[in-house]
Amino acid sequence: MSVLRINGERELRGSMRVHGAKNSVLPIIAASILASGETVLHNCPNLSDVDAAVKILGHLGCVARREGESVIINSAKMSRCDIPHDLMREMRSSVIFLGAILARTGEAKLSMPGGCELGPRPVDIHLSALRELGAEISEEGGNIICRASKLRGCRLNLNFPSVGATENTMLAAALAEGSTIITNAAREPEIWDLQRYLNSLGVDVRGAGTSTIFVEGTRVKSDASHRVISDRIVASTFMAAAAVTRSDIELTDVIPAHFATVTKTLREMGCRIETGSDNLRIRSNGRLKAVRPIMTEPYPGFPTDVQPQLMATATSAEGTTVFVENIFDNRYRHVEELRRLGADIETAGRVAMVTGVKKLHGAPVKATDLRGGAALIVAALFAEGTTEISELSHIDRGYDNIEQALRSLGADIVRAD
Ligand code: EPZ
Repeated sequence: MSVLRINGERELRGSMRVHGAKNSVLPIIAASILASGETVLHNCPNLSDVDAAVKILGHLGCVARREGESVIINSAKMSRCDIPHDLMREMRSSVIFLGAILARTGEAKLSMPGGCELGPRPVDIHLSALRELGAEISEEGGNIICRASKLRGCRLNLNFPSVGATENTMLAAALAEGSTIITNAAREPEIWDLQRYLNSLGVDVRGAGTSTIFVEGTRVKSDASHRVISDRIVASTFMAAAAVTRSDIELTDVIPAHFATVTKTLREMGCRIETGSDNLRIRSNGRLKAVRPIMTEPYPGFPTDVQPQLMATATSAEGTTVFVENIFDNRYRHVEELRRLGADIETAGRVAMVTGVKKLHGAPVKATDLRGGAALIVAALFAEGTTEISELSHIDRGYDNIEQALRSLGADIVRAD
């Protein structure tokens, strides 16, 4: 079993390029089966979730290969419409293949996605949207079975701006007859990137980034090439690491507008942050200050995927910061591990109160989920002494070789057996 071993209290210096976005590349890989030709995806991060999505493509009869930072997909020979349990279990967000498989083949059979570390993850909004587009859906033997001889465009409203449900609806509507209007859609930047990819396939999609998305169903082109946007959650994680270690780093190949709420919060904590069109410099030299309550919301609100990392930063701040997790029921599993490092955190349901301490102390801890694992890395960089983080498979789902990236900025971090 490998662990990350981190000796803390080192300032970070230098410049680092932020890799492509996991939460953008996954729905685009699913969308690639709408086309019956070749899709070339550039800036594709090397992540276990991407490998899991490529495995699903292989199971469906598509061919995919990686060439450096590009993944080349050919879905001409797609021959299946099911995703078995073992592949669904590997990556919870495989459910985003549902709309594309249904649109491409008229049938889709997926093993029911269970809950995950973050709590129950129902797919009711996905299914009701597909039903409105004309799909017949049944649940048999732990599977979701969708059939539609013809999907028909319509006007539909999502009960909650779910990212996955918005993506699934866009993919199904892309090959539907007529136009679809999705209201109360998710507004995350990854939705905008999916719209860009669908446009490159010749699908008329507009409105991504707003709550109303228009999709004109059509016959798609066979080939496309797309460069995936950079990962705003990875950028935010490195900013949290710089803030807590009194560092001065530059991040390149970023879109600062995509994580403006995180930048605002770190400025309030006392960091100096300058942003350019595709880069950012963050400097932190004093003790951070606690800030007003941080409440997670759908985009453009404060991202739930940065809550754990900012909590790790707040453990070193002067004063008490309150967090309210509004998106997931069970997204404080990292709290117990942060307490092992000496953090002072009280939780009650969706609320957490973090009172800053002068020092954390290295200890053996385990990653509880992807972003919880990232939070432990941030805390360990601040902690005195050595921290060992285990259960790295969680972290590798969303960070491409994070230890090498941090070492390039001067951190004392190794992956060791
Ligand atoms: C996406 O998950 C991201 N994953 C998550 O990132 C992120 O936390 C989440 O959006 C919110 O921003 C990917 O993009 C692959 P949702 P998704 O559907 O699509 C409830 C990470 O760390 N809901 O917007 O699954 C749901 O239970 C991951 O990179 C229903 O009730 O999120 C949750 O409470 C973790 N019924 C809330 O909505 C539904 O049918 C938000 O879920 C769908 C969702």
